[in-house]
Amino acid sequence: MDQNHKQDEQSDLFAGFSTAYKSFATEAIHVGQEPEQWKSMAVVPPISLSTTFKQFGPGKHAGFEYSRSGNPTRNCLEKAVAALDGAKYCIAVASGLAATVTITHMLKVGDGIVCMDDVYGGTNRYFQRIVSESGLEVTFADCTKPELLKAALKANTKLVWIETPTNPTMKVVDIQACSDVAHEYNKDIVVVVDNTFMSAFFQRPLALGADICMYSATKYMNGHSDVVMGLASMNRDDLYERLKFLQNALGCVPSPFDCFLCNRGLKTLHLRMERHFKNAMAAAKFLEADPRVERVIFPGLPSHPQHEVMKKQCTGCPGMITIYIKGTLEHASTFLSNLKLFAIAESLGGYESLAEHPAIMTHASVPEKERIVLGISDTLIRLSVGLEDEDDIINDLEQALAAAHPKKK
Ligand SMILES: Cc1ncc(COP(=O)(O)O)c(C=O)c1O
Repeated sequence: MDQNHKQDEQSDLFAGFSTAYKSFATEAIHVGQEPEQWKSMAVVPPISLSTTFKQFGPGKHAGFEYSRSGNPTRNCLEKAVAALDGAKYCIAVASGLAATVTITHMLKVGDGIVCMDDVYGGTNRYFQRIVSESGLEVTFADCTKPELLKAALKANTKLVWIETPTNPTMKVVDIQACSDVAHEYNKDIVVVVDNTFMSAFFQRPLALGADICMYSATKYMNGHSDVVMGLASMNRDDLYERLKFLQNALGCVPSPFDCFLCNRGLKTLHLRMERHFKNAMAAAKFLEADPRVERVIFPGLPSHPQHEVMKKQCTGCPGMITIYIKGTLEHASTFLSNLKLFAIAESLGGYESLAEHPAIMTHASVPEKERIVLGISDTLIRLSVGLEDEDDIINDLEQALAAAHPKKK
């Protein structure tokens, strides 16, 4: 394919989406990475493993005291992520759930949380089984309809928790509309967006009115399936002060080695996300045209119920596709067991293609009754389309569908 054709294909893919963030790649590569900060002038930030730092005199230090409260490698990562989120600040923690826990610790007994009704299983479990039993009130609302969020807000609501697109049914929430609803009700409500599925490259919740943008960096932000980490970015000084305090006081910090890896992953985030989008679009179109598939949910397709919201608030789509295969649990299991290039595995957002069965795997902790309401059925399959060659991805899906639905002889 010549260069012009390649460019046409690329611009078609992104047509109608919000404009890409200015200087994203440059900032991913340079912000917080200045060689001048090290005596050695190292171009790649060193992994600073020391747990403690020598002081000039008692209380007189060079910016670091103890590695839980601050670490040079972690600083590089936090500065880069803040820039990519269009934020003033970022804190890195030990996992996505650690970010959720750290943020929730800003609340006190009697406070209320309104959470999107379809969220990652672990978030649901934490809110229902731990937070609700610790004297905080958690209610769930379908935030794809901002009026339902409005109806759920109460005098004690301190936090609104949005995930978009949701895991695994890919519902898309209008971040600006929900932030406006929450802030009009009470300007002090903290609106958090779990941006895990989108990454900083495709969605900037803070520019859409949210107060905190959080991630399971385990997914696209690191992108290589070799780090478990969480991130939270914000502009408000008071939120940063509180969360920075909690990062140290709760102690859910990531290791310097993991910070190094995640920081390295960010350097190719823009390239990875573009390729995830291209591959996922090709796979989604193939699956949507296939009679063995009941329904494809991919926000990049016009058939997605919130496709217009997606185009308005995002600069593209990640590699996540949810499908309902025709048939029963057996068909879903046969399809998954026959995939060769896709690995059956939890998680998402790495360079490799993964497939999973949410009702049995990632969302088994969501009570069955709620799974039924949310549509997390036995035939629902979640795909994380990786960075392999498009034809190989489609051939793998084709042969697994053929195994699940063999032609009658
Ligand atoms: C959307 C979303 N949020 C949060 C988490 C939790 O992150 P972690 O596994 O890094 O603790 C996950 C994990 O799968 C997720 O998919």
